[in-house]
Amino acid sequence: MTGAATARIVVLVSGRGSNLEALIAATENGSVDGRVVAVISNRPDVFALGRARRHGIAAQTVDHTTFADRGDFDRALMEAIDAHEPTLVVLAGFMRILTPEFVAHYAGRMLNIHPSLLPAYPGLRTHARALTDGVARHGASVHFVTNELDGGPIVLQGEVPVCEGDDPERLATRVQRIEHLIYPQTVAWYAAGRLRLTGDHVELDGRRLDAPPRMRLEDTVHDTEITTE
Ligand code: GAR
Repeated sequence: MTGAATARIVVLVSGRGSNLEALIAATENGSVDGRVVAVISNRPDVFALGRARRHGIAAQTVDHTTFADRGDFDRALMEAIDAHEPTLVVLAGFMRILTPEFVAHYAGRMLNIHPSLLPAYPGLRTHARALTDGVARHGASVHFVTNELDGGPIVLQGEVPVCEGDDPERLATRVQRIEHLIYPQTVAWYAAGRLRLTGDHVELDGRRLDAPPRMRLEDTVHDTEITTE
């Protein structure tokens, strides 16, 4: 090993784990200087756990239904996460609201991906709501996690067109294509020490991001490079 220690990444999931898969691929092909050291789910038997195991990654469940309240669950989850000594905690389709204690414990070292161009459409059913509103562009956002639900400082967004005949599933599939690019990119920045949260704003390469950079799906066909200007 040379230079700084490789980032230790713990990923929290609740379901399918396609973002997890994209992140694992990025660590395996070297575009992220880090290793997914554990995958933890709040639901037993989800597909994401099988993906982790297939890559030889520790996979475990902390089942929220077996705890008396949210505080007890979050404390058990923290213990499970911290046993892996993570540099970064990545929420990848993790569908739980977190307590302030949990959020504070991982302040500045926990990221989430949300399926909308935040601040538009926080919460659930984002694709259906975007279609009802008739928007032309939709997408996803990677942000640091704070106590405001889907409201933490945004690092990177991915934008896709809304097309004639889209239904929520078709639009979700398109949004996920861009999610699988922007999440590994954000984690790569973090793992390289280029990204940090200072107070309530994001710094990339020591410069404050006033507006988050945006990757467009059309651009990625020929060029996955994005700028932060
Ligand atoms: C992703 O589309 C992610 O944006 C969304 O869940 C999906 C998980 O897919 N997250 C949220 O809605 C969080 N509020 P995956 O399990 O295939 O990565």
